[in-house]
Amino acid sequence: TRVEWDLVTAEKAGFDHFMLKEIYEQPKAYRDTMRGRIGEDGKSVLLKELQMSDEYVKSIRKVQIVACGTAYHAGLVGKTVIESLVRIPVENDVASEYRYRSPIITPDTLVIVVSQSGETADTLAALREAQRNGARVLAITNVVGSSVAREADDVLVTWAGPEIAVASTKAYTSQLIAFYLLGLHMTRVLGTQETSQEEEMITALQQLPEQVEEILQQAAVLKQVAESIAHHRSLFFIGRGVDYAVAQEGSLKLKEISYIHSEAYAAGELKHGTLALIEDDVPVIALVTQEALYEKTLSNIKEVKARGAHVLSIVNSGFELEAAKSVDEVFAIPKTLPLLTPALAVVPLQLLSYYASLALGHDVDKPRNLAKSVTVE
Ligand code: AGP
Repeated sequence: TRVEWDLVTAEKAGFDHFMLKEIYEQPKAYRDTMRGRIGEDGKSVLLKELQMSDEYVKSIRKVQIVACGTAYHAGLVGKTVIESLVRIPVENDVASEYRYRSPIITPDTLVIVVSQSGETADTLAALREAQRNGARVLAITNVVGSSVAREADDVLVTWAGPEIAVASTKAYTSQLIAFYLLGLHMTRVLGTQETSQEEEMITALQQLPEQVEEILQQAAVLKQVAESIAHHRSLFFIGRGVDYAVAQEGSLKLKEISYIHSEAYAAGELKHGTLALIEDDVPVIALVTQEALYEKTLSNIKEVKARGAHVLSIVNSGFELEAAKSVDEVFAIPKTLPLLTPALAVVPLQLLSYYASLALGHDVDKPRNLAKSVTVE
């Protein structure tokens, strides 16, 4: 009816699609997720909503992060964050696999479930399995009254606001912010980092919203790139470390809404088989944000270039000229700490998927075969 049409248009607030609106809401989502969780001095993280005691945090020997899809990809970044800040081993599990692999869950295991909706059946089942085995469960979710939020022992809400598009964008990046905050909280309790390092990270975190705004201002460039990849049948995303985690999310996003086949590979793993698929003109999107791994990833880029690939690389600002020597196109993200680059590097990939889907005339917000929340196992 006319009334409904007007309502939906109003909800899109001038954007053509919910997905685009939600991509542009990310600076606000980052700020809202950090609000009230960073001390007034701007130097410490305070997660007052957590019921877990400092004694409990000190007793954690292992962390398992369990989730599906995009939330699983946020957990991959979460693993690196917790392991590098806190030095506790972290396992990642896809929720539909977790229960069936007889995971070793002990009372000193912290299980973190990540779910935008808080209603994903497999994630909820994993939560229950973990609790049945005596583990404490912390949920990172976007929906306050959801099943996952109600059943978990601790809840860290992402304040991204309602996410309508099936393709998750602002929920994913808010989950990253939640992991950064949780990592910093655990670090403070355990004293695993120098205070100066914690403060440096908190300062850098607070700069992220503005840096995302800078990326959004360059959307037109990404639209052009998206239009050029839209007619390809297949493409690849490569990266190392957290760049590999972001590559997996970029690949899922592209498949989900543009229906273009793509694969994400750890850059160094390509030559163990998949390199055979690289031929003339195949697009490769290379994430190169980890300074310590620059040389290694550049040599993987040379491997695909030598087979004719067309390479777009996402690099840190300041590295554009150097990268331009080895690749066809360069997109620079503002400079931040190595652990925080996922919160910036994923944004151009979200825009690429959006514009590729648009160029192909697909239903961006409601891709075929998919539902916003998967409540069956
Ligand atoms: C993301 O773009 C997907 N639509 C999907 O992978 C989603 O992240 C997954 O189904 C998990 O949903 P949840 O976060 O609500 O649990």
